[in-house]
Amino acid sequence: MTEPTARTVQITRPAITDQHGVIESHHLPEAHEYAPTQAFRAQTNVHGEIYAQAADFEAFWAEQARTLAWRRPFTRVLDWRPPHAEWFSDGELNACENALDRHVAAGLGDRVAIHWEGEPGDTRAVTYGELLDTVKRLANVLEGLGIRAGDRVAIHMPMIPETVAAMLACARIGAVHSVVFGGFSAESLRARIDDAGARLVITADGGFRKGRVSPLKPTVDRALALHPDRPSSVEHVLVVRRGRNEIDWVEGRDLWWHEEVPFASPMHEAPALPAEHPLFILYTSGTTGRPKGVLHTTGGYLAQAAFTHRTVFDLKPDTDVYWCTADVGWITGHTYLAYAPLVNAATQVMYEGTPDTPDWSRWWRIVERYGVTILYTAPTAIRAAMKVGRQVPQGHDLSSLRVLGSVGEPINPEAWLWYREIIGGGRAPIVDTWWQTETGAIMASPLPGVTTLKPGSAQRPVPGVSLAVVDDSGRPVPAGEGGLLVADRPWPSMLRGVWDDEQRYRDTYWSVFGDRYFAGDGARLDEDGDLWLLGRVDDVMNVSGHRLSTAEIESALVAHHAVAEAAVVGAPDPDTGQAVVAFVVLKRNQHLVELQDAPAELRAHVAATIGAIARPKAVHVVPDLPKTRSGKIIRRVLAALASGAEVGDLTTVSDPSVIDTIRGIIAADG
Ligand code: WT7
Repeated sequence: MTEPTARTVQITRPAITDQHGVIESHHLPEAHEYAPTQAFRAQTNVHGEIYAQAADFEAFWAEQARTLAWRRPFTRVLDWRPPHAEWFSDGELNACENALDRHVAAGLGDRVAIHWEGEPGDTRAVTYGELLDTVKRLANVLEGLGIRAGDRVAIHMPMIPETVAAMLACARIGAVHSVVFGGFSAESLRARIDDAGARLVITADGGFRKGRVSPLKPTVDRALALHPDRPSSVEHVLVVRRGRNEIDWVEGRDLWWHEEVPFASPMHEAPALPAEHPLFILYTSGTTGRPKGVLHTTGGYLAQAAFTHRTVFDLKPDTDVYWCTADVGWITGHTYLAYAPLVNAATQVMYEGTPDTPDWSRWWRIVERYGVTILYTAPTAIRAAMKVGRQVPQGHDLSSLRVLGSVGEPINPEAWLWYREIIGGGRAPIVDTWWQTETGAIMASPLPGVTTLKPGSAQRPVPGVSLAVVDDSGRPVPAGEGGLLVADRPWPSMLRGVWDDEQRYRDTYWSVFGDRYFAGDGARLDEDGDLWLLGRVDDVMNVSGHRLSTAEIESALVAHHAVAEAAVVGAPDPDTGQAVVAFVVLKRNQHLVELQDAPAELRAHVAATIGAIARPKAVHVVPDLPKTRSGKIIRRVLAALASGAEVGDLTTVSDPSVIDTIRGIIAADG
């Protein structure tokens, strides 16, 4: 692992111009601070006192956890044996019961849980009662296949209600789900199936994306057929029919959802499970080539998920229509689509496809059609909408929106202002939420009825959470200076480990500052104590709010027969925040002849090996890489070259002449 160092990362992004070349940040008011309006304050769920009420954080979280339905109430709140925390550990509950059964029992069976819209335009309104019925039947199917509490189930699905049902059915019987984003390659899927030892894969034939069927079952088939010498742990594949694309079928292994689930019994008792029972594994990129399986458990995760969802979005379950645009394959989709909204009995929108299908008005038509009141999305999506131009959202009635959320990367003030003015009508507060796969739920954010908003700042730890910005030796840095973000005490939804890799858990998060959690982000606190995120300090890139590891992409590149060496860096990008830029040295032999267009082939190779999200924006073929005398690649220099910045101190570069050569190649590649 690279040693983290305290540094200020300059996040500079060119201005965004729309289709007509108009700079979209013009005609916006100057960035200043935005106090909550009287009207918002008058109806908000919580007030400023909540921070003082959370002073005793254990008592505070216990109170939040008691809003869940417990089969056996907890008496213990926190056991903290660094780096392992247990929350509410002698309590018992069932996550699915909390998300569904208790609402149906309370008479909310007819409330719409999910207003679903397929990309081709088909729609379904799924009530809490219907979702519970499906989940109970599916739980019986899973048990019939021999899946028991603690077994792992991989889920490789499109954005359809069945995906949420699959997650909840696993949770109901205590099986641990591992959702693998639909855009990952067969190889990435197989690595995750193997690491978790999944016995079952739930998938669909395909899902709709950009007007086409994007195949999923074929990826599962390829994944399971990889490494014939080493058969996978998977016994069955359960397939939802969605895309109606042509698929292969393995008799005895594969089962159609529609031939099983509707015929299973609708009776199913949710068992009481310990608060620390594993709920899911979600793989995320780290500093090494191998993704790590971040493990979350039940009671603490649900408590913080539900609390933050109610408080940060000021949720009113009876009247709000909430929409989180994230894919369920990421942590945002787990916490703020599959779990928190259902635990809070909210009505939400779920959309299958991409924002530009059939055209860029799609999202705004959805907001208008369902009367969305709370929208939670990512800066990259806002910048994409800005680029298209304000006329598109302005052609729709967005007046229902009352809270806007942002997540995944720092939001640049131009995008913040545009989001506020053009989407939020200059009224709706924006909550910029900082958190991670590992933190499970929101850790820092303004509270919409409480906080005076500052564009670009994640502002304050949520009540009950404590964060600090420290230097390399762990001492708090003065206001205004950059440092490293740490959580200085445990929180309920924190990861409980890295699946099957205790050492990696300790090394990655706890080896730097002992019993304080090292987040991997640079940050600074301003004079008011507000938090500004400055980007990752490790070899993790953030592209469109998705985490990618430089090492993982480098190992994909060097696995190509023509590549001798590769170095990958993140470069600032006006659309995606960062973009993947690769530098490769090709092997000096006959393989070269076969390569017509090395950059194109290598970009495609990375997409096929990892998934389309990892496809480099640029691949520069260079004769050599900048290295230290001991032969270590100096990525800092490449990152500077890729972003057109000053390369800085070159005394450690063994052959500084490669710098000019590479600069020339970048210029020639355009
Ligand atoms: C990394 C975590 C948590 C859901 C999405 C990403 C960056 C996330 C913000 C924000 C600045 C942010 C951080 C973090 N990040 N939200 N509001 N402001 N940076 O989850 O894939 O686990 O990535 O995303 O760098 O470490 P993830």
